[in-house]
Amino acid sequence: MGRIGAWWLAVSLAMSACGAPIEEDDVNHQQAKLSGHSLDKQLASVLAHNGGIHRFRLPTPASPLSHYPADPKNPITRAKVQLGQLLFHETALGVNNVRPEGRETYSCAACHPVQGAFMANIPQGIAEGGSGFGAVGDGRVLLAAYDSNPDKPDVLAIRTPTIANTAYQQLMLWNGMFGGVGDNLGTEAKWVSGTPLEFNHLGLEGVETQAVAGLGVHRMADIQNSRVAQIKRYQRMFRRAYPADPAPITRLNAAKAIAAYERTVVTDRAPFQRWLRGVRHAMTAQEKRGALLFFGKAGCVSCHSGPALNSLTFHAMGFKDIDGAWDPSRVDLRPFGGTVPADTRRGRGAFTDNPAQDFAFKTPQLYNLRDALFLGHGGSKRSVREVVEYFNAGVSENTFVPTSKLSPLFKPLGLSEAEVDDLVAFVEDGLYDNKLSRYTPKHLPSGNCVGVNDPQARLDKGCK
Ligand code: HEC
Ligand code: HEC
Repeated sequence: MGRIGAWWLAVSLAMSACGAPIEEDDVNHQQAKLSGHSLDKQLASVLAHNGGIHRFRLPTPASPLSHYPADPKNPITRAKVQLGQLLFHETALGVNNVRPEGRETYSCAACHPVQGAFMANIPQGIAEGGSGFGAVGDGRVLLAAYDSNPDKPDVLAIRTPTIANTAYQQLMLWNGMFGGVGDNLGTEAKWVSGTPLEFNHLGLEGVETQAVAGLGVHRMADIQNSRVAQIKRYQRMFRRAYPADPAPITRLNAAKAIAAYERTVVTDRAPFQRWLRGVRHAMTAQEKRGALLFFGKAGCVSCHSGPALNSLTFHAMGFKDIDGAWDPSRVDLRPFGGTVPADTRRGRGAFTDNPAQDFAFKTPQLYNLRDALFLGHGGSKRSVREVVEYFNAGVSENTFVPTSKLSPLFKPLGLSEAEVDDLVAFVEDGLYDNKLSRYTPKHLPSGNCVGVNDPQARLDKGCK
C-alpha cells in the first residue's frame, strides 16, 4: 500500500469509527491526480487538528433519525417530519390575516422559500401583505393596501436566514433570543407574557421555540380554526405524529412537527460533505485549496465550525443593518416607524443587557449561500465574494458600531487575490447542495399553492 492508500485507510477508519457508510463512487481512488492527493492529505490533516473529519459531517438520508440533533423534549419521528414539511409550506394556515384579502396567502415558506435555499430571495421577506413570487432576486412586492397601521405587512427589520442546518444551533434568530435553554438561561426577565418571548418558558431549544412563537408572529396561530383542522389527511397525520394525544391538532404540536422537519433539512449533498464521506473528486483542487485556507490561515474555523460551519457564539463584524441593504428599494421600514429599531441594531446585547455583546450577531451556517443574494444580517453584501473581501479588508461598514465593540478577530487578513478566489470557491461551490428541492412538497392537502398563494403568486408559480 502506497502513501495514498495509507491516507485513505486512515480516513476510512476514522469514518467507520463513527458508523458512516463509505460512498461507492470512490472505490477507484487510484485515479485521482497526484496534486489532488497531496491536497486531500493536507486537508485531512488540517481537519484532524480541528477535531477530526467526523466533527464536520452532516447525516445523510441513510442515517438513522437519531443522527440528527434533536431537542430531548421533541424527539424526531418520520411522522412529525412528514407533517412538518407540509405545515411549513401550508398556505391554508394563513388565517390570522389582518386584511381579508390576505387570508390563506402565506406560510413559513413565503419568507423561507427553497428557491433561495430557504432564505428570502429579497432582503426583507414578506408574508401577508406581499404579492407574487417572482424570479429569484426579484421576489415578492408589498401591496399598497398594507402601508399603514393596523394593516401592517408581515415583514421584519432584518434579513431572513435559512432554516437549513438549524439542527446545529441551539438558539434561534440573529440575536439568539429564542430557546429556553443554554446561554439564554439567565435572561428570564425578558421572557414577558404576551410577547413572543414568553415561549422560552416552555424550556425548548431554539428551533422548537421559534416555530411556536413564529406561528403567532407570522399570523398562523389559530390552527384549530383553519381549514387544516378540517382536512382528513391532516387529521390522520396529526394522530400518527402524536398518538398519545386525544386532541392533537394544536399550535404547539404543529410547531414541534415543523421543528422536527427543519432539523432534517441538511445540506448533505454538498461537495465538501461528499468529500468528507470519502469522495475525493467531489471537490475541485481550487475548492480544496479554499478549504485549507478556511480551516487554516484565514481563521474562518475559529468561528465557523461543526457540521453546519456555524457556532453558538455571537460577534460584532460591523455589517450594516437592513437600512444598508444593497437594494434598499426592497426594504420597507414603515411598520417600524421608518427606521431600524435601536434594539435590532444592538443585536445580542439588547437581549442579554450585556454591553460586551452589543452589535454582536450569531455566527451563521455557511451552506448554500450562493442562493442568498443578500448576505450579512442586514443584507448589505450581495455575494460570498463581497463578504470574503470585506473580512479580508477588516474595515467596519456600520457607523453605528463603535470600533471598540468589534470582534478582535475582525481585522485585515492579508489574503492574496488568488487566495480570496480559492476561499470563495470553497464557500460558494464546495458548500453548495444543489438538490434542496427534495425537502419540499409538490402539492398541499389543502389544494392551495405551495408556500405563497395570493393571485399573483399563483400566476407566477403556475398553480392551477
Ligand atoms: C415575514 C417573513 C417570515 C416568515 C413568514 C417566517 N419567517 Fe422565519 N425568519 C424571518 C426573519 C426575518 C428571520 C430573522 C429574524 C431575526 O433574526 O430577528 C427569521 C428567522 C427564522 C429562524 C431562525 C434561523 C436562525 O438561523 O436563527 C427560523 C428557524 C425560522 N425563521 C423559521 C420559520 C418558521 C418555522 C416560520 C413559520 C412559522 C417562519 N420562519 C416564518 C422571516 C420570516
Ligand atoms: C469572529 C468570528 C468570525 C470569523 C473569524 C469569521 N466569521 Fe464569518 N461570520 C461571523 C458572524 C458573527 C457573521 C454574521 C455577522 C452579521 O451578519 O452581522 C458572519 C457571517 C459570514 C458570512 C455571511 C453569511 C450570511 O448568511 O450572511 C459569510 C459568507 C462568512 N461569515 C464567511 C466567513 C469566512 C469565509 C471567514 C474566514 C475568512 C469568516 N467568515 C470568519 C463570524 C465570523
